[in-house]
Amino acid sequence: MLPTLAPSTPRTLQLGSLRLASRYFLAPLAGYTNWPFRTVVREIGGLGLATTDLVNARALMQQSRRTMELVHTTPNDRPLAIQLYGAEPKEMGDAARWVEAYGVQVIDINMGCPVHKVVKGGGGSAMMCNVGGALDVVRSVVEAVKIPVTVKMRLGWDDQNLSAPNFARAFEQLGVAAVIIHGRTREQGFGGCVSLDGIRQVVEAVDRMPVIGNGDVRTIGDAQRMLEVTGCAGISIGRGALINPWIFRQLVRWETTGDPGPSGGYEERLDLMLRHFRLLMNQRGERYASLTFRKMAGWYSKVMKPGRDLHERLQRLESESQLADILDEMRGKGPPIHWREGQPPEIAVPKGPISHW
Ligand SMILES: Cc1cc2nc3c(=O)[nH]c(=O)nc-3n(C[C@H](O)[C@H](O)[C@H](O)COP(=O)(O)O)c2cc1C
Repeated sequence: MLPTLAPSTPRTLQLGSLRLASRYFLAPLAGYTNWPFRTVVREIGGLGLATTDLVNARALMQQSRRTMELVHTTPNDRPLAIQLYGAEPKEMGDAARWVEAYGVQVIDINMGCPVHKVVKGGGGSAMMCNVGGALDVVRSVVEAVKIPVTVKMRLGWDDQNLSAPNFARAFEQLGVAAVIIHGRTREQGFGGCVSLDGIRQVVEAVDRMPVIGNGDVRTIGDAQRMLEVTGCAGISIGRGALINPWIFRQLVRWETTGDPGPSGGYEERLDLMLRHFRLLMNQRGERYASLTFRKMAGWYSKVMKPGRDLHERLQRLESESQLADILDEMRGKGPPIHWREGQPPEIAVPKGPISHW
């Protein structure tokens, strides 16, 4: 059993005026961390804050249909951050005001996205190469709203430009409530290891602002290492939550009792898949649910190992009744060998499906 952290370790987190019930965040994963997935994770428990997929500030002001789907939420999906990106201070400020009026609790500015579509407009991680521009954007957002503003970034553009500590210090002075650091550079993409040392340098660079560590956390042991080595105030988990949506509940239990308790059992995971599908269907109908679930199938299959035939059927899913049949067959087959109830086999964090992330 892993030891409990020292009793003095803070277990909640203050973001400006907002107190979060836990210090564990669901990291934004475009295409995955939509309202249905956030809801199933919240229903399990332990989550401190969830964030939407990244949302283009200009598109938000135009209220495009696709953008409004990205910001879809319900009162039980709280506390929630909407993640904005854009390189124009005025547009970002206007979008921030809109977000505040929309009623969510936090605005997260994306400064980490390396995808070409985002970077070519000067947004995402390109902002880490334009110090003045980045500060103007952050200032404009912070001044536009009363709700807490956070910034998510990488360690820097490449190893020669590890600018995150300097940025974090400057953001703290502008009134940013927290920074979330993915411990890789833009150049690294998803290769190599997360640099815990790099995250620690960001923690050491700031005065009081919480720094949230991010990258490759998929077990309680990974989280413990992240907290101990970096001194970060909280952890943001993306791909680890796709593989184990129980991880937030386990982390909270672990830090309170020393025992993380079980992750989802085989039957519970089958139930969760159906619940997830039905929430997708509630939001946008059976066809959308089927198409979105096809993408999700890869992650579910990594743990459930349903065999090639059932996996391929999941990837061609067209209806709720088909999913119910597949889940029945999986129930009949039972868990894969080496499955220990509540303890699925250890799985490496897979690379981002969008390899550039
Ligand atoms: C498919 C995918 C989509 C992502 N989308 C976003 C996004 O919209 N905004 C963002 O800031 N980061 C995004 N990321 C980066 C993650 O939030 C996170 O920083 C990264 O995956 C490392 O954390 P993890 O190892 O816990 O997944 C994405 C990553 C992946 C794999």
